[in-house]
Amino acid sequence: KLSRLGIFGLGTMGRNLALNFADNGVQISVFNREIEVVDELLKTISDTGKVSGFKNVSDFVFSLDKPRIVILLITAGKPVDEAIEQLLPYLEPGDIIVDSGNSYYKDTERRYEYLKSQGLRFVGLGISGGSEGARKGPALMPGGDFSAYKDLEDSLKLVAAKSHYGPCVEYMGNRSVGHFVKMVHNGIEYAIIGAISEVFYVMRNLMRMTHEEIADVFEEWNKKDFDSFLLRTASAVLKQVDEKTGKPYVDVILDLAEQKGTGLWFTQTALEIGVPAMSISASVNSRIISTYKELRRSVAEKRETISSSKVIESFETLRDALFFSSLIAHAEGLWLLTKASQIFNYGTDLEKVLKVWRKGSILESSLIDSILKHNLNFSNCLIEDGDFRAVLEKLLPSTMALSNLCRGAAIPIPVINSSIDFYLSVTSENLPANLVQGIRDWFGYHGFYRVDQPGTVFHFVKPESQSD
Ligand code: 6PG
Repeated sequence: KLSRLGIFGLGTMGRNLALNFADNGVQISVFNREIEVVDELLKTISDTGKVSGFKNVSDFVFSLDKPRIVILLITAGKPVDEAIEQLLPYLEPGDIIVDSGNSYYKDTERRYEYLKSQGLRFVGLGISGGSEGARKGPALMPGGDFSAYKDLEDSLKLVAAKSHYGPCVEYMGNRSVGHFVKMVHNGIEYAIIGAISEVFYVMRNLMRMTHEEIADVFEEWNKKDFDSFLLRTASAVLKQVDEKTGKPYVDVILDLAEQKGTGLWFTQTALEIGVPAMSISASVNSRIISTYKELRRSVAEKRETISSSKVIESFETLRDALFFSSLIAHAEGLWLLTKASQIFNYGTDLEKVLKVWRKGSILESSLIDSILKHNLNFSNCLIEDGDFRAVLEKLLPSTMALSNLCRGAAIPIPVINSSIDFYLSVTSENLPANLVQGIRDWFGYHGFYRVDQPGTVFHFVKPESQSD
């Protein structure tokens, strides 16, 4: 019996997604380079009768029903190109390759064109939810060949997470957009993880709360104010105790944050196409600063800081700041996606993107429901919507109060601070960019526009005595 689709790569993600397909009655074939892994998986699920394992690529490909669908679940980068080359000799025109790693969208663009030239259909599939999500229901962001998506749709709907909007899978648009959307998702993820950690830092160092107390507050917010996967995760992590030392586990984790690339790509892309994603960039930079552990240790200063009696009166201030920063992170991410969709002709529908993220993704949060209530037909940014601004304006005083307090206490909270600066800058009619222009022209004859004659380039006429 031929299989509906094939899973290429049986790492944790591949294995879990394979089990998820099998649970949902989809007949699949699996292949892995290290063949013992295939046996292992088959042992686990041999009873289902839904999984056939293969130890060479040709048998694997020929076990698939036509048009053949192969889903790659392998490390992003070179291994994807290698896998494609391994598959090519056995695939036929019209067959489909799906790349579901965290691939760089420019690679996806290249592979899309390459496979198209070979008569094959390519789908870049962003998957969120980690390995647990893959097993129980991930959020799926497919983009690329639309007819290929249609051939995949039913199977993907079966395994995807289900929210009150339906299965968390939607066609995201043309060519490389699936991985672009996943990159945007991860950028937002970085900023929210950063903001939650900064709130923790304040609670710990300024309010002298215990990990247990902080976890309880997070849980409370999660129940009452906004339900969020990342807040639940933070709470669970804070409750862990290290068996060896008896200390809260977070205290024995080195404060050195790593990253695998998507946050960096987000920031690079935002700079390249001109979107001011200030808080997301700050979250990437704060991970980078954290890696200089030895430097930080060697130059660490003890500073006079405000007394702890002056600390925040209510937890609501902190909650509002976290809420504010989380909304700004979404606004920045969606801005990048909107601009990219305009430039690259992705044809992305933001409503669909948000609905996909609503469940199963790392961004899973009731916050998304509140964002969906706003007008998503903006030309640049969600902040154009007056109702959205009204929400932010309400949260702003608390966020600024926290920011001021941290300044006074010499506590760095770069993500939260940058979200304020982003918002204040976007909502300021006048910025000091006039002086920037003036300086540029004075030393480099770069030109500027006048407020009374936009569109015409002017230069300073330097008197002889002032020229340098
Ligand atoms: C997800 C996650 C997942 C992972 C990223 C980011 O949506 O399931 O985004 O893909 O968290 O790889 O990891 P780094 O923080 O290591 O860059």
